[in-house]
Amino acid sequence: MKAVIPAAGFGTRFLPATKAQAKEMLPVFDKPTIQYVVEEAVASGIDDILIVTGRNKRSIEDHFDKSFELEQTLQSGGKYEILKQVRDITDLADICYVRQKEQNGLGDAIHCAKKHIGGEAFAVMLGDSITKGPVPCTKQLIDVYEKYDSSAISLEAVPKSKVERYGIIKGTEVEENIYNIDKLVEKPLAHQAPSNLAIMGRYVLTPDIFDKIDETVPGVGGEIQLTDALSKLDSIYGVLFEGQTYDIGNRLEWLKTSIEFAMDDPKSRDNLIKYMSEIIKDA
Ligand code: G1P
Repeated sequence: MKAVIPAAGFGTRFLPATKAQAKEMLPVFDKPTIQYVVEEAVASGIDDILIVTGRNKRSIEDHFDKSFELEQTLQSGGKYEILKQVRDITDLADICYVRQKEQNGLGDAIHCAKKHIGGEAFAVMLGDSITKGPVPCTKQLIDVYEKYDSSAISLEAVPKSKVERYGIIKGTEVEENIYNIDKLVEKPLAHQAPSNLAIMGRYVLTPDIFDKIDETVPGVGGEIQLTDALSKLDSIYGVLFEGQTYDIGNRLEWLKTSIEFAMDDPKSRDNLIKYMSEIIKDA
């Protein structure tokens, strides 16, 4: 299976940090966000990845490309551990790029992948969310796609106050944590949301989605919404992801995720706790 990572947005919620760089390149603790996403794809058995880029996205290409000068400097300086890390990034997967010419929404960005994908089911992984779980999120979706022979998307229960930020579904639970979806609404008002189950940025889609995107008219924000195209599929399942999703597209969540990941790092944990207790004491 191939994966598509849309990374063409302006990152307006992150300005000015994203004025001249892609939001997907913002580091979460010690790695750019998009590297976590590519690593999840690889852990899910995917090694052919298409990244849909826009302007200011050259740093994404450079990050996954070989850097001769850097490698040579690290080699001659005897910095073998970091040299291995730098080389591993290049060897992660086969990565191709296509550019979304105009910012016409997530549905339009996915449509840019049509030629590369051909007639097979494929994964979509949003470049600004990171997941952590016992089984990679995308792998959980692939398993449900294979079992039900239908598109599958990841879900998370969110507080009612946050439904306006997400695509929200209504469905019937057919087995533990798996929903047969009959309604999807992009960014509904809280009192109009059909539930509190939100679409969390991972999808496995059957190729008929491309025709459905063609039939989709601009929706919320005047953009071609992927959620609206998903509503047109004959059948789609939702998976309440067993694990955690970090939505990095929001600066406070981004900061919290960096802290949480630093706490997982044995070399940083103690110093961080000490520092945090000091600033909390003075707050
Ligand atoms: C997109 C999708 C939305 C989904 C969200 C997850 O919205 O359109 O359905 O719930 O990602 O992060 P965006 O965050 O791009 O506005």
